[in-house]
Amino acid sequence: MSFLSILSLCLSDWISILSALLVIYVSHFYYKYFTRPNPLPGPIPIPIFGTLHIIGINPRVWYIKNIEKAGSVWEFYIGHERNIVVNNINYAEKLCKPSKRIFKRLPFPAFERIGLNHGIFFNNEYNSWHKRRRLVIRALSAPKFLRGLVISVQNTFKESENIWEKSNLNGGIEFDFSKWIRCFLTDISTLQTTKQRSYSVATLNPNNDLVQSEDIKNALKFSAAAKKFSDSLGFFAFVPPFMQDYVPGFTHYRKSCERNIMFLNGIVDNIINKRRKELDEGAELDSDLLDHLLIAHTLKDPDSDNVENVASISAKEVSVLTWDILLAGTDTTGNAFSFLIYFVAKHPNVLAKIHQEIDKVLGPDPTVEFTFENIDNCHYIEAMVKESLRYILMVPYTVKLSEECENIAGYDWPIGTKFWIDHHSLCHNPDIWDDPETFNPDRFLSKNHDGSSEISDSQKITFAPFGCGLRGCAGKFVALTLLKTMTVMLFRKYNIELVKKDEMIKYRYTALNKVYDLNIRISLRDASSSS
Ligand code: HEM
Repeated sequence: MSFLSILSLCLSDWISILSALLVIYVSHFYYKYFTRPNPLPGPIPIPIFGTLHIIGINPRVWYIKNIEKAGSVWEFYIGHERNIVVNNINYAEKLCKPSKRIFKRLPFPAFERIGLNHGIFFNNEYNSWHKRRRLVIRALSAPKFLRGLVISVQNTFKESENIWEKSNLNGGIEFDFSKWIRCFLTDISTLQTTKQRSYSVATLNPNNDLVQSEDIKNALKFSAAAKKFSDSLGFFAFVPPFMQDYVPGFTHYRKSCERNIMFLNGIVDNIINKRRKELDEGAELDSDLLDHLLIAHTLKDPDSDNVENVASISAKEVSVLTWDILLAGTDTTGNAFSFLIYFVAKHPNVLAKIHQEIDKVLGPDPTVEFTFENIDNCHYIEAMVKESLRYILMVPYTVKLSEECENIAGYDWPIGTKFWIDHHSLCHNPDIWDDPETFNPDRFLSKNHDGSSEISDSQKITFAPFGCGLRGCAGKFVALTLLKTMTVMLFRKYNIELVKKDEMIKYRYTALNKVYDLNIRISLRDASSSS
């Protein structure tokens, strides 16, 4: 027998073995699928891809076409993993109970490599999550921080105004608002968490006259590295670790991302250590988030009458929390504000009420500095922000993993079942919300604030733009404060129109609803109303 015939025999043997394995795998996959407990409606999966080829990554795609069939609970597959989607208020209420039983998020083991599992968002270890969440909530709700935030937004906004004023504001200037707001919030959150400027808005303008000092060059390097970090999260979340380690292109990318993260952590650690030393030596407390994180629960905490003086937070912990806050707070708030601008531009009656309230609370001068307390008195603007968050949820699904058996929809589900709460459908359920497809901020305006209705219990349960249960958003109050402050800054002085008035807003779902190409025309409010 020649070598070639042995080789060809071996090859054909291999092919037979592989084919047999494939047949066993596919048969096993479909055996498991067709004998699964509690079968629910949903697209039929294929091995490896699950239902990706039918619904992509957004479960709404199948749901909208199959509403009748799907009912209030249905299923889809990611690979061989089964996921249950619930649209029913009673099931959602059960899964949203703040209980240790329903605590874990979908695990992303590869995040361990970049340290993201040790902060809050991706941390599935209850005790360390609990300690860190308390620290963050304490820092984010400190009155000095919130007051400082409102001022910081106004100061950062003035930098954009200076750029706009160099152009022809009377004639109106056009730009992609979704890009601008991302940069604006990057500037705000970098300043709050690291005390550093990121110059994101300034670099949006190709003719920027940034003096290329060493400090500015370093800040720009930091911003570019932070953007690379944020862009690499999808890779660490979804590319399996063995591919990251052994497939050449992936390995190269992983190594470059890890070097990038080391570079960023080095800078952040230096900033934290330097600031900690300054505070220990008696430096005055700034209003930013970094200082509030460093002193939360210590004797220096000015807002606590009941100081616990828990062992002070380590630099490593502050660093990991800094990334959590930057990653969880920037894109969510930016996209929420893009949607809000779109809704207001489409509803002149809403804009008129916003103007009325701004003029009443802040007076006619559109340049006067305002405070957190002023913002707190803008009840219509708050209602409008909430309606905007109801109409389009930035995070339309939250995923709950139960650590005990759950009875949902009359079925018993095993530990670890992945339940997707469809918050979007719940916020648009006509049995719960009157005329849910109409953008109507008044529905959130209580009788105390010139409104006519009170939000019902079912509405309270289903209105969850910030998620629900133990893992609900830690920055909810900050997000509302930012959205209200930015609304006042933009609408009190400027007139905002959509460049393509009849075009629908463009956005795509990638765990978050992300807006793109939101082209607006901005001009001075007085100039346009007098024309
Ligand atoms: C409009 C803006 C925002 C929206 C729509 C939003 C929404 C959410 C949602 C839906 C979750 C997950 C909740 C769950 O799984 O049930 C979440 C978690 C979180 N958010 Fe936000 N968020 C926003 C802004 C912010 C801001 C400004 C910060 C920080 C300053 C922040 C910090 C966090 C953190 C740390 C978590 C993780 C909580 C945990 O796992 O315990 N978010 N957010």
